[in-house]
Amino acid sequence: MTATSPTLQCAIEALSVPGIAIGHRLIVDGDELALLPDEIVAFAGSVLKVRRASGAARIVARKLLSRFGQAERAIPKSTAGMPVWPEGIAGSLAHDATVAVAAIASLREYMSVGIDIEPAEPLDPDLLDMVATVNERRNLQDDPCRGRVLFAVKEAVYKAVYPLDWTFLDHHDVEVSLAAGTAVVRNGRTVSFRYSVATHIVAVAFVPVPPRPGAGP
Ligand SMILES: CC(C)(COP(=O)(O)OP(=O)(O)OC[C@H]1O[C@@H](n2cnc3c(N)ncnc32)[C@H](O)[C@@H]1OP(=O)(O)O)[C@@H](O)C(=O)NCCC(=O)NCCS
Repeated sequence: MTATSPTLQCAIEALSVPGIAIGHRLIVDGDELALLPDEIVAFAGSVLKVRRASGAARIVARKLLSRFGQAERAIPKSTAGMPVWPEGIAGSLAHDATVAVAAIASLREYMSVGIDIEPAEPLDPDLLDMVATVNERRNLQDDPCRGRVLFAVKEAVYKAVYPLDWTFLDHHDVEVSLAAGTAVVRNGRTVSFRYSVATHIVAVAFVPVPPRPGAGP
């Protein structure tokens, strides 16, 4: 059985952020067995569904890491929740009920990355006020799926900035411009992002390493 979706693969390729490798996997029975001993400890109290999704995400991440010259190794979950990456690597994991994704980059290019995946379904109207600021609501243009896009982008942004700022963020602490592909966080940090919509919404947020003063274009 194939563990990838061609439609989703195309959508992920369309994200095309230079230097960021993104992959996905359809979660299947047995993916929980991919959790290595150093990873399992964090999931000791988790139900099978959670262990399976986290195992699937790590299968994807390990494959992507090999492209960065990294040998197969554990990606433990820290007590703060974020994954612990090998030296020199920035990355992020996400999963919904059926698909796991990972994004990996070199710290030489990116200070941090974040990824999220959501089903391509409208956001529950009751959740829209919680997720979208007044400004964002004005720009949703009555497209019910855009609320869910906003949700995915904010989760991806949170995952990208938490390892840098160690600050909990509420949805209204992040102001997103879907048109500009940028999000501004409460502390003033600006994060770029891209998203695609196919069977799922995939959003990737990234904080590039600032250019060194005097470095050429
Ligand atoms: C981090 C968070 C966004 C993850 O969302 P989720 O819907 O539970 O799960 P996802 O499948 O999208 O992502 C899970 C992965 O996020 C990663 N993650 C968890 N906490 C993280 C953190 N603080 N920083 C970065 N990544 C984190 C982990 O890799 C996890 O995978 P794992 O359990 O297999 O290791 C959520 O748990 C959280 O803490 N939310 C509070 C903050 C928030 O959402 N604010 C609104 C947006 S600004």
